[in-house]
Amino acid sequence: MPFRRKKITIIGAGQVGATCAYIAASRDMGDVVLLDRAEGMAKGKALDILQAGAVELFDGTVRGAADYDDTAGSDVVVVTAGSPRRPGLSRDDLLAINAGVVGSCCLEIKRTSPEAVVIIVTNPLDAMTFVASRELGFPRERVLGMAGVLDSARFRSFVAAELSVSVRDVQALVLGGHGDSMVPMPRHCFVGGVPLTQLLSPERIQALVERARRGGDEIVNLLETGSAYYAPAASIVQMAEAVLRNQRRILPCAALLQGEYGVSGLFVGVPCLLGGQGLEQVCEFELDETERAAFDHSVTRVRALVDDLARLGL
Ligand code: APR
Repeated sequence: MPFRRKKITIIGAGQVGATCAYIAASRDMGDVVLLDRAEGMAKGKALDILQAGAVELFDGTVRGAADYDDTAGSDVVVVTAGSPRRPGLSRDDLLAINAGVVGSCCLEIKRTSPEAVVIIVTNPLDAMTFVASRELGFPRERVLGMAGVLDSARFRSFVAAELSVSVRDVQALVLGGHGDSMVPMPRHCFVGGVPLTQLLSPERIQALVERARRGGDEIVNLLETGSAYYAPAASIVQMAEAVLRNQRRILPCAALLQGEYGVSGLFVGVPCLLGGQGLEQVCEFELDETERAAFDHSVTRVRALVDDLARLGL
């Protein structure tokens, strides 16, 4: 059988999608297709990335597209398409617009890449992953949301800066929903193997937790137009790479819980074993009382978002 390269499709060639395509191509993760309803933008950015390969010396093909047939047979599909938050757009409006976008993209993905592992990025993440799963009808192993890798990257980068150490040596875990209901777990944060709780005061840790929780808003406020994209894109690629290279990594992702952590039927951020099949296992461990309370609160917020979908008939 001839050697077949892996294929990764990114839906949405905006800030997050295009950056993701660049990083994926530069790591030779396979053939990259960048799809957007704005065909020229997808094709233009794809060409630009391909030409960067001549300087940075990466070889994969990068193609722009507006037709899902060009994405057929993808191993991994990433959905970043949607409308960003903007002034005057209510939370419900955004929910309705993005549920429509993600739903329509997923119907096409189901038709053209029925075996793909699908990673949802569009916000509000926990609700969009729920919509995607419903439209795709794929087993839970193949529908994941990207949030925890980004949220924990933010926390890790703040810890590394505070202690003036390499971020490589900072390990952290973030559970729960994306954004301000996320649950950073200081008890499970280690710096060079030493618990963070032995290195910083509870007050300092809490300050870093709060900053991580509002990490996305801090960037939105600075940018004024648009939201973060470098760290989100890098986080997507880490998840996609774990699948495409069957790395069996343990990464925090939004996964459909089926009784784990006492939750069923909702996508919530938990540690996941990611490999060639997608989600190979939800890793469960015991939460202490404080963690349990924060996790339950976060689950309540995720459930409220899903209830909003039903209330709006989405
Ligand atoms: N089909 C294909 N592409 C679409 C569709 C659709 N139905 N609807 C919108 N798009 C495309 C837009 O044309 C745009 O190029 O999605 C892209 C979104 O890009 P940006 O507006 O630059 O948004 P970005 O910053 O990339 O964020 C994308 O990721 O982190 C989340 O909150 C963020 O939900 C947002 C998403």
